[in-house]
Amino acid sequence: MSLLVAIRGWTPEPWIARLRQHVPQLAVVSLDDPFDQAAVRYAATWKHPPGALAGLPNLKAVFSLGAGVDHVLRDPALPRVPVARVVDADLTHRMVEYVVWHCLALLRQARRYARQQAEHIWLDDRGQPSAREVRVGIMGLGVMGAAAAQALVALGFDVAGWSRTPRTLPQVASYAGQAELPAFLARTDLLVVLLPHTPETLGIISTPLLRGLARDGRLGAPALINAGRGGLQREVDLLACLADGTLGHVVLDVFETEQLPTDSPLWDHPKVTLTPHNAAVSDPDAICALIGRQIDRLERGLPLEHEVDVARGY
Ligand code: NAP
Ligand code: GLV
Repeated sequence: MSLLVAIRGWTPEPWIARLRQHVPQLAVVSLDDPFDQAAVRYAATWKHPPGALAGLPNLKAVFSLGAGVDHVLRDPALPRVPVARVVDADLTHRMVEYVVWHCLALLRQARRYARQQAEHIWLDDRGQPSAREVRVGIMGLGVMGAAAAQALVALGFDVAGWSRTPRTLPQVASYAGQAELPAFLARTDLLVVLLPHTPETLGIISTPLLRGLARDGRLGAPALINAGRGGLQREVDLLACLADGTLGHVVLDVFETEQLPTDSPLWDHPKVTLTPHNAAVSDPDAICALIGRQIDRLERGLPLEHEVDVARGY
């Protein structure tokens, strides 16, 4: 019996080594080497090539190596077996760091002060708003969004969240569904996007949505932070919204095309901050241990944890 590692875009070797440690009862085989298809019982994937998991007659479950599963579900030949995603304290913590870093950088105008320092400019600026005067709106109030919301509440920000179904979190105003989206946007100065990429959320971050953001915030124009998925955003719209003042700044960890093409205008835009899809990186040790526990559960006849609703897309 074996566990198939099907990875593209990341280096597979550390994953293979950790899986051998954490799942010693199975042979760990790689998509990149010949393997016996009938022996494969489980697959661990990050962006596997579509069709790569077809033709595995004894496959019992698929494990995403990340929190998102769009890279798994986009495979039209995906076998009809349970799919589980990563829910891991370390991964969540890293995303919280990312969101807090950029909300504070926007609140405290980090880019402006870096420019002023470079030019030796001392301005006696006493107009700095406090966090409680800034309204953060988080689209996606799941594992990542809820943890980020709590950290921002602790810093004093005025926080709301938007999700498919209503969520109850201390000191976080909850908005749900399309009907409540306009009200959520209208009270948002810093929009943080932590949604999954699904058929429903594809391209949601577009000009009409961004025009719904608050125009009376203490930071001037509203700002966007997207660490969810690049497929959520329309980059031409982001550039148009920066040009006409609908947005004052954009922070992106994810892009419509990854790697971001070297000729993308986003690279050099003075109102754009970029990171290379590493807001929250999966720690191979923690995630391979999780997969080990999941396999133990299945082998004991227990249900998977964090199973994805394939029809819903997350
Ligand atoms: P999650 O726990 O599944 O939460 C997803 C949230 O999105 C839920 O609140 C859900 O609403 C909401 N949602 C989904 N579809 C919606 C819709 N159509 N309208 C409104 N709300 C909708 O996921 P998570 O663990 O927080 O992760 C979120 C995403 O972060 C992942 O899917 C992945 O794409 C991204 N991510 C990125 C990185 C990175 O490094 N950039 C790292 C990890 C994860 P309900 O609560 O009503 O279900
Ligand atoms: C990273 O993008 C993840 O989905 O965990």
